[in-house]
Amino acid sequence: MFVPFEAWTGGRSISSIGTNAGAPDIPFQNWRRFKEAFPPEFVAHAISQCPRPVKRCLDPFGGSGTTALACQFLGVHPTTIEVNPFLADLIESKLVRYDATDVARSFADLVRLANRTRVNPSKLYTSGPETLIEPGVNGRWIFDWEIAARLAAYVSALPKITNRNHRRLFRVILGGVIVDVSNVIVSGKGRRYRRNWINTRKDGSALDTAFCSAMESAIGDIVRFTPRRVHSFSVLHGNALQLIPSAGPVDISIFSPPSC
Ligand SMILES: C[S@@+](CC[C@H](N)C(=O)[O-])C[C@H]1O[C@@H](n2cnc3c(N)ncnc32)[C@H](O)[C@@H]1O
Repeated sequence: MFVPFEAWTGGRSISSIGTNAGAPDIPFQNWRRFKEAFPPEFVAHAISQCPRPVKRCLDPFGGSGTTALACQFLGVHPTTIEVNPFLADLIESKLVRYDATDVARSFADLVRLANRTRVNPSKLYTSGPETLIEPGVNGRWIFDWEIAARLAAYVSALPKITNRNHRRLFRVILGGVIVDVSNVIVSGKGRRYRRNWINTRKDGSALDTAFCSAMESAIGDIVRFTPRRVHSFSVLHGNALQLIPSAGPVDISIFSPPSC
């Protein structure tokens, strides 16, 4: 018995398939909020309106993976291309079929390993800007030292997780929560400091709490939305202009192009 597409979207009715309102709260889509995403219903509509049967679909500008994930629920094999390595991993982490118990066990291993790891974050993030970690520059920094140290412990422990699908999932979920425990908020395409950030210092436990709660929610999504009608997928990491010829024949291509 497959989980229907409507179970994933909550069977919501939207005023227009051109609006992304509410879509970032849908399971999987909240792993990392992506403003430019379109609603899953847009994909379902495009496939239903296609004059030929759709078995394979290409999204050359994958973003957060809306097209690919919707295709799995709709029984269509998705091929996705994405040039941003983090987003390519985000897409793949949503499409992989997991055993939720194994994921939970592996995550417990990661936490145990991180608890035993001490890393100087300034030695790990040598290529970051000088404002990345406290003490930063001119009294400004993005991550408090304790948060950066805890993040460095997780990042250093990750390679010890043997299952690469689990490693990718943990990296993606961790990447999805770090802005929440930083001193900045995302504002448009840039960042700005939170009001009163200097007086609301965080220790490493803030990252533990955010990471564990996001993992709990992700494992819940995995449990509730498996199996899907199709679990196969292809994610091509790189530039669509070069990779489209290797995507193979498809019945439809559904995408929103990057803004210049
Ligand atoms: C508007 S977003 C796509 C959003 C997507 N429809 C969704 O629902 O999440 C465009 C994406 O194209 C990617 N991109 C831009 N230029 C690219 C290229 N030459 N090849 C592959 N991906 C590219 C960007 O990194 C971005 O993630």
